[in-house]
Parts: sequence; structure tokens; C-alpha cells
Amino acid sequence: MAKLKSAYFCQSCGYNSPKWLGRCPSCNEWNTIVEELIAKDEPEKGSWRFGKSSKTTSKPRLISEINKTEKYRIITEDAEFNRVLGGGLVPGSLTLVGGEPGIGKSTLMLQLALSLSDYTILYVSGEESEQQIKMRAERLAFSNNRCYVLTETATDVIFKQIELIEPDIVIIDSIQTLVSPLIESGAGSVSQVKECASEVMKYAKESDVPVIMIGHITKDGSLAGPKVLEHMVDTVLQFEGDQFMTYRILRTTKNRFGNASELGIYEMLSNGLRQVSNPSEILISEKNESISGVAIAAMIEGNRPLQIEIQSLVSTANYGTPQRSSNGFDPRRLQMLLAVLEKRGGFRLGTQDVFLNVAGGLKVEDPAIDLAVCVSIVSSYEDLPVSHSICFCAECGLGGEVRPVNRIESRISEAAKLGFEKIFIAKNNTKGLNFEDFNIKIVPVSKLEEVFSELFG
Ligand code: TYD
Ligand code: MG
Repeated sequence: MAKLKSAYFCQSCGYNSPKWLGRCPSCNEWNTIVEELIAKDEPEKGSWRFGKSSKTTSKPRLISEINKTEKYRIITEDAEFNRVLGGGLVPGSLTLVGGEPGIGKSTLMLQLALSLSDYTILYVSGEESEQQIKMRAERLAFSNNRCYVLTETATDVIFKQIELIEPDIVIIDSIQTLVSPLIESGAGSVSQVKECASEVMKYAKESDVPVIMIGHITKDGSLAGPKVLEHMVDTVLQFEGDQFMTYRILRTTKNRFGNASELGIYEMLSNGLRQVSNPSEILISEKNESISGVAIAAMIEGNRPLQIEIQSLVSTANYGTPQRSSNGFDPRRLQMLLAVLEKRGGFRLGTQDVFLNVAGGLKVEDPAIDLAVCVSIVSSYEDLPVSHSICFCAECGLGGEVRPVNRIESRISEAAKLGFEKIFIAKNNTKGLNFEDFNIKIVPVSKLEEVFSELFG
């Protein structure tokens, strides 16, 4: 008979307390501490202990003595997914894919499973029935005879099946639905999620099978369950985008095997997710239109240079306090740039409503889009369009100065590749840059006024 014990856990951060508290001393959240029953068998048993025993004794070894076995990666059919992973699935790795409900996590994973026809895949679902999965699979344009579906939530049963099937890749939808028989509390609770994740991790590390887990996210957009979940896994991917728009972005937020700020872009179609290999095609609207308030920025996300359209609408505020609203761009940064334009450029924006939109539902943190933001605001304010063959790439300072940004060469080459004719960059960015190398006219500037007088006269 298992021994029963109870402990108090914060549902928000996983803090473990011996007694009940109104406020969590770790994350300062109120009313998040709940009692949970923990039943532990004898320490030797349990977790991924149902099958093989974990009796491998480990010894310390000199780092120079460790042979680096060149771990091959499993290159999936999905180039965007490979990119965010840093070049494919690493054997024995544990990947967590988070995202809002309905964004397409299950679709992405099922599509991945079906497209890897050379591997035996086990798709464990605690959320949908076999029928539902079959229906979804039929909508997707792939078929795979080596993809098993298991609708089960108990980890002991899952691991038994894993021993029978011996899959090459395991996908779990979702970690919050799993229950370990060792823990009494319900699925999705902090202790369950923690235990199930550590069992899965143990399995992945010992068998060298890559496991991908889907995770739910909370109202404020962070991954649900304890923070330890994110510490435990090797890679954390966020699937984001507007449910009502067709574009979806898969973003790396943690990666032990590659760059942690990669980006993959998909389009949700009626037959699944399509990879978007040239994102600028969707991030820039029709080139022939010339409306005011539009400027194109040369930005970089992860390792990927992107051209993105910034749209502004500046109109006289008729109702009291002017409104400032921005989509995909930090609102405080917008306030700052507006103040710079007002003070250094002499534009009377204090009485204007300003709406700013980054195309494609992308959230941009790259400061290199500052200049495009300023240009789009002034373009809308003056009602003078900016040619679509020009793009902008610089940060703006408080003094109205145009500042350099990193990796300018890749930004310029990408702009040239996409057929832009002119790019504005900071004068300080030109050091070591050979203008002849690029098939685009480079305009170095040091002050915002220079940009405006060049564009609007
Ligand atoms: P789903 O993968 O179930 O989301 P999650 O697992 O993140 O909750 O995605 C469901 C949405 O995707 C649903 O609104 C329907 C849509 N969808 C398509 O547009 N095309 C398709 O081919 C599929 C399978 C789903
Ligand atoms: Mg789902």
C-alpha cells in the first residue's frame, strides 16, 4: 500500500510549502497554494520504472575523456520546424510546444507525425478520440502507415505500449492530460504535471527517443503548470498568431541545441498548415498600392532577415485625450518615438490619434524597425506615401539621431534579394561596409530630419 502524504503547492509557480499560506512567498500570488495528496511508493519503484529498470550506475568522467558521438538529427519534412529546432530533432530530446487553444498545436504535431513516413511514430492523445484524430488526419494531405495513435492518459499504460511498439518518435498531446498512478492528485495539477514530465524525460534520456509534448498555456500567455516544466525540457516552442488570421508563428523560446530566437511561419489552410518559406511575401501587401502611412522595415528575427510592413494612421483627435494604440509594437516605445518626432521633428502629434500596426500579427522587438515606425507615422501625418521600393533599417535615439543596428549586411542583402531599390541605414553602420557589394542603393543618415527631407522634401 502506498504511503499517503500531503503537501501544499503554489499552482502558479510550483512552490512547495509545509503548511497552507494565503500568499505564495515565492511568486507573491494570492490564493494559489492548494493542498495536494502525494502518494509515493518505495523510492526504488515508480516513474519510468514500469518497464526497464534504471539501474545504470553513473560515474564521474573527465570531460576530455567523453567521446562526442556526433548525434545525427532527425530531419523532418517540415523545414520551418527543423529551423526552430536548430536543424532537426535531436535524439533523446524533450520538446515542449505551447500555444493558445485552437491555434493549431495538434494539427502541427499530427502533420509532423504523418509526414515522417520513414519512422515509427507514437501519437499519444489524451484530448481527442481516435475518431477525431482519424478525421483530422484525413483532412491533412499526408498518409503514414507507421503512425500509431494511442488515446490514453495513464503514464504506466503509455510506457507499456511504448515498450511494445518501440517508436522512433513520441508525441504527447498534452502533458496536462497525463496522470501518473504514483500521484493521487488530478490531471493538470502542479504535482501531476511535474511527475509526468519527469517520467517522460527519463524515458527520453534513457531510450534516446525524441519526445515532443504539447502544453497548455494560461490566460496571460505563459505555459501552464510549474515553471520547472520549462527548466526540465530541452526546447520550448511557442505557437502563436491570431486565431482569426491564417498566419501562425512558431517561435523558439528556449533551445539547448540551437539558437533560442528562431522563427517558423505557417499558413493555416483547410488541409493543414502550409510552410511559408518566403515570409516577406505575406508581410508586405501589394506593391503597386501607394497609400500614406506605410513603411517597410528590414528586421531580423532569430537568424532570419525579414522585410515587414509597418502601417500607421494619424488623425486629429476629436474626443478629448488622443489615443495611442499599437499592434505588435511596444506601446511605450511608440510613445517615446512620438515624443521624439514632436520635439526634434516639430510634428504636432500631441493632438493626434495614432494607430500603429505591424503586418501579419507579428510581435516585433527588434529596435531596427524604429526608423520605419517614424517614417510611417510622418507619412500618414503629412499624407504623403512612401515608395514601396524603399526600406528602412535603424534604431532612433531620444535626440532624433539615427542609430546603428546589428547584422546590417544580412539585412541589406535580404532587402536587395527581394528587389528593394533603396535602403536607409545609420551612418554609423557603414563602417567596413562596401557599398559595391550590394545590389541596392544604400542611403546612410545620421538624423531623422535627413530621412524626412529626402523622402518628403
Ligand atoms: P488544433 O490543432 O485543434 O488546435 P490546438 O490543438 O492548438 O487546440 O487546431 C484547430 C483549428 O485549426 C480549428 O479551428 C480548425 C483549424 N484547422 C484548419 O483550419 N485546417 C485544418 O486542416 C485543420 C486540421 C484544422
Ligand atoms: Mg489540441
